[in-house]
Amino acid sequence: MALWGGRFTQTADKRFKQFNDSLVIDYRLAKQDIIGSIAWTKALVTVKILTSDEQRSLQQALEQVLKSIETNPAQILQSDAEDIHSWVEQKLVEQLGDLAKKLHTGRSRNDQIATDIKLWCKAEIITLLKAIKALQAQLVLTAERHQTAVMPGYTHLQRAQPITFAHWCLAYFEMLQRDSTRLDDAYQRLDVCPLGCGALAGTAYPIDRELLADWLGFASATNNSLDSVSDRDHIMELLSCAAMSMNHLSRFAEDLIMFNSGEANFIYLSDKVTSGSSLMPQKKNPDVLELIRGKSGKVFGALSGAMLTFKSLPLAYNKDMQEDKDYLFSALDSWQQCLEMAKLVLEDIEINYSRCREAALQGYSNATELADYLVAKGVPFREAHHIVGKIVVYAIGKQKALETLTLDEFKQFSVKIDADVYPILSLASCLAKRNAKGGVAPEQVSYAIEQAKQKLR
Ligand code: ARG
Repeated sequence: MALWGGRFTQTADKRFKQFNDSLVIDYRLAKQDIIGSIAWTKALVTVKILTSDEQRSLQQALEQVLKSIETNPAQILQSDAEDIHSWVEQKLVEQLGDLAKKLHTGRSRNDQIATDIKLWCKAEIITLLKAIKALQAQLVLTAERHQTAVMPGYTHLQRAQPITFAHWCLAYFEMLQRDSTRLDDAYQRLDVCPLGCGALAGTAYPIDRELLADWLGFASATNNSLDSVSDRDHIMELLSCAAMSMNHLSRFAEDLIMFNSGEANFIYLSDKVTSGSSLMPQKKNPDVLELIRGKSGKVFGALSGAMLTFKSLPLAYNKDMQEDKDYLFSALDSWQQCLEMAKLVLEDIEINYSRCREAALQGYSNATELADYLVAKGVPFREAHHIVGKIVVYAIGKQKALETLTLDEFKQFSVKIDADVYPILSLASCLAKRNAKGGVAPEQVSYAIEQAKQKLR
């Protein structure tokens, strides 16, 4: 039976019922709904709606329901209850009869769902923070392993300056660090309890809402009942955290897809995370990375979908809001999955050191070094830049790398170039010189690894 039958003389059309029901989505809030209800029974004792004995019976029954879904979660979806709140109440009525019907006194599904979602989000943030941290730890481990893997760094997808694979890994460590602080921040803001706000105007019973919030593990109770039942900022905020992080993961995936291409051939992906072609026997495709890249689109869609759903909703509750959980669950599930998959990719990644090095030596990625060399010999940077540009054109014509030009060839462009130029042009020197904070010099990278480890501790 629906929770609102009295006002109606006709039953709902089956098709409308199916359209209106949300159990297929909000069944995931069962645990939060029960925990919220237990706290509410305690609040009802303080306002003398329930006796302590009744409260005890209700709490025991609710705990019983919780236990039974832990062992058999599928049972929820076998029911035709409208939503998770109706389902829990149905279960209680089965156990306790009329006593169960007292539970909803002074409460609305509007403050109930708002509370359930926030409780779910709080637990989910903890799970996501762990997943981010696990990926960060893997990035640090991979960085530590591959500090000497010199490869080209790119701008405009043109070889720009040499970097190391370790330095690349640590770039993503930083992005994830920001993602995790964003989640921390979102947590602080959503940690306020809406329970006891009723349908929209507040509950008619003199409940100590701060105490109630405390029982449920919230930092405090919300301030305004209208806002409390209408607010889904935390959903959009979490979707925005997810979108930002998926942007990072998508770029991570795209970099690795490029590194894995036959053209670059910088890395080997394990068979565990690749798949083959049904037609072309030679193929080994980076599906895992393409899916991470692909799912990012879905998460951005969830963020804009939620924003659009809420943008002109009048206060307070509107049924449009029921759509929020679909966005929330699917986006955060994808995010969590992608964090795990990114870690899995790195666990068995192998680096083709010689090929990376070969590519770093090509493409004149030491041209900046030559310009800096001239600067050190007193040539103004703009002029040095111009001279080196000319040298590069000459070297391309001769199909030679800069470090293989003879001194005579160099002297045609600047008499300031001497034999001491050659060590400057080596990959090792290119790296070692970038020794200011955040640079690619081995000293900086190993310092960054230590710092990262400390953050993870
Ligand atoms: N299933 C609803 C939702 O998710 C619960 C709140 C229902 N409230 C109402 N007034 N119909 O939004």
